[in-house]
Amino acid sequence: MKNYVLTPGPVPVPEFVMLEMAKPIIHHRTEEFEEIFFKATQGLKKVFMTKEEVLILASSGTGAMDAAISNTLSKGDKTLVINGGKFGERWLKICKAYGVDTVEIKVEWGKAVDPSQIEDILKKDKDIKAVLIQASETSTGVEHPIKEIAKLTKDRDDIILIVDGITAVGAFPVEFDKWGVDILIGGSQKAFMMPPGLAFIVLSQKAWEFNKKSNLPKFYLDLSQAHKNSLKKTSPWTPAVTLIVGLNAVLGYFDKIGLDRLYEKHSILSQATTEGFEAIGLENFAKGCTSTALSVIKSPEGIDAGLIVKGLKKKYGMIVAGGQDQAKGKIFRITHMGYVDKADIIAVVAGVEGILSELGHKFTSGAGVSRTTKILDRL
Ligand SMILES: Cc1ncc(COP(=O)(O)O)c(C=O)c1O
Repeated sequence: MKNYVLTPGPVPVPEFVMLEMAKPIIHHRTEEFEEIFFKATQGLKKVFMTKEEVLILASSGTGAMDAAISNTLSKGDKTLVINGGKFGERWLKICKAYGVDTVEIKVEWGKAVDPSQIEDILKKDKDIKAVLIQASETSTGVEHPIKEIAKLTKDRDDIILIVDGITAVGAFPVEFDKWGVDILIGGSQKAFMMPPGLAFIVLSQKAWEFNKKSNLPKFYLDLSQAHKNSLKKTSPWTPAVTLIVGLNAVLGYFDKIGLDRLYEKHSILSQATTEGFEAIGLENFAKGCTSTALSVIKSPEGIDAGLIVKGLKKKYGMIVAGGQDQAKGKIFRITHMGYVDKADIIAVVAGVEGILSELGHKFTSGAGVSRTTKILDRL
């Protein structure tokens, strides 16, 4: 049976990227590779919407989250963590590992944070050095209002805004320079439609000032080293040569189709999925604050979402993600990032219809597919 990877990371990789990466290996300390590296960093600036240097790390996204903390903060510093899901929780864990104190805003899963809550805390507690958040919380499908939050931090020299954009960058615009974000992180296995293994991180001038004072331990992920080398078109350690070659193919493609078209694609796939499922009585988990990078759909009352996930795999070879922790058994998650297209979305809605009718959910057969198909005509 053919397998369809439809998880919100890793995502399917297009053939033209795979073929680029199949070429013979190049040594990294050569002019040839330096040009490849330089081209990649230039291309990333466009996607990150910045004139700052975007650093390429050989790590998964968590490596860049770890580096964001260890390179800007010091032991005993205090941060404000917006915790509305598994990846918000990860900020808390990283801070704890480094002896960084945290104040937490617990956000109900499936809801976006209210910026006024952040504003209140920042007004009262002047010791907070950083706000840590996700632009797109992949465990719930929520998009947090980064632009609004940046307004609270951008004119203050004593606080930085650190944004995990791992399922945001490339899927929808996060305007790093314009909004005044201080750190933004992306990951290769998401909207960059590549295999896992690269993380991207950019720091504002304010964040680099924080870097000068930071006393937390760092070596492999020392961003000042990465920055110094990146300006010389290289990296401090052996880079993930093959992945960077693939990255250039992706960035070339983004350039060709245009970022606006790319964002529009995610947005239409998202709407088609949401409305398709609504037509058969299923609700979006992140209603009103949906990230267009993925759809997180609630299973119908009385039906374990795990059965939908298992059924799709067994019957149709479709791999979607289930829910974690408190959302386990309640939701299933589908990517709009990566090499997915109209046919993938039609297939998954049809597949879920097939599984749900076996599980006894009552709906008009074909209503989901029909609604989804109609919206996808706009793409
Ligand atoms: C929003 C978000 N943050 C962080 C991560 C962690 O990234 P990685 O698994 O690449 O370390 C993920 C991965 O799914 C994510 O979606």
